[in-house]
Amino acid sequence: MTNINFHGIEMPNIGLGTWHMGSDPLTYREERDVIRMAVDNGVQAIDTAEMYGRGDAERLVGDALSEYDRSKIFLISKFYPRNAVEPQLSAALEASLKRLQTDYLDLYLYHWRGDAPLEQTVADLQALKKSGKIRHWGVSNFDIDDMTELVDVPGGDQVFANEDLYNIGERGIEYSLLPWQRKRDIPLIAYSPVDAGDSRQHELLYSPGLIQIAERHDATPYQILLAWAVRDQQTLAIPQTSNPEHLMANIHAGDIHLTKVDLDVLDQSFPGPSKKEPLAII
Ligand SMILES: NC(=O)c1ccc[n+]([C@@H]2O[C@H](COP(=O)([O-])OP(=O)(O)OC[C@H]3O[C@@H](n4cnc5c(N)ncnc54)[C@H](OP(=O)(O)O)[C@@H]3O)[C@@H](O)[C@H]2O)c1
Repeated sequence: MTNINFHGIEMPNIGLGTWHMGSDPLTYREERDVIRMAVDNGVQAIDTAEMYGRGDAERLVGDALSEYDRSKIFLISKFYPRNAVEPQLSAALEASLKRLQTDYLDLYLYHWRGDAPLEQTVADLQALKKSGKIRHWGVSNFDIDDMTELVDVPGGDQVFANEDLYNIGERGIEYSLLPWQRKRDIPLIAYSPVDAGDSRQHELLYSPGLIQIAERHDATPYQILLAWAVRDQQTLAIPQTSNPEHLMANIHAGDIHLTKVDLDVLDQSFPGPSKKEPLAII
């Protein structure tokens, strides 16, 4: 597997998302087994949130990994904006830890920005970090204005990562946010890296440019979408899947090296932004 280095922490560039998992009794066991299979095959980053299935996804992850070596897993969860200050923040964290059957999170993300003063949220997150219940904190769905404001509040420069929607059909963050983050060594976690749930997915997957590159690498178009999302070797992608074959394909996609020629072909089909675009959000 190809590793990335997030502030000194090495982990494979492909993780596993868990949105929409854990709520359906008919698919629960398959989903649990896929999470185990992911970790058995070297995946470290597991992304979940208190929001997903109102705790069902966290419960599923906790159930799947209760017997695993905790130190081998990089567990990410997220809190609602309404829980972004104390005492709600600690209560939300405790509930997540309980569902996840663990006593700490590797990364706790502010799911999207709400009305709470950023200074207060950062101070409260820094206190949780000190307590050891979270190793790091970060943000999600933050655009460049939010990030600029964030790093200016006391402790705001401790932000570990920003998790935003990023795939070959949604390249808007390349215009200013991504270069800004790179300059400050704030990693990107790319969610929806294969553009799921978006009507563009059909269009993406049938693009002749994408199919040509997939054939060149003896890979599926989905794998090329993932390889593209992590091409800078500084990004973590967190595709969601409940399918063991897709899981293995996704893990292998992290090792596909796209050449300059490949990237040029893909740029022709999916041009990058030429001006600032509103942040894409699901
Ligand atoms: N921070 C946020 O606000 C935010 C927002 C959205 C998502 N997320 C996180 O990011 C994760 C991923 O995003 P997402 O779930 O929106 O979209 P995604 O990962 O881009 O796509 C997931 C969909 O693609 C299919 N898929 C995955 N790999 C495949 C493969 N190799 N071949 C064919 N189909 C494949 C899955 O179906 P199968 O099960 O059939 O494989 C699933 O329907 C979420 O689960 C969540 O953890 C975060």
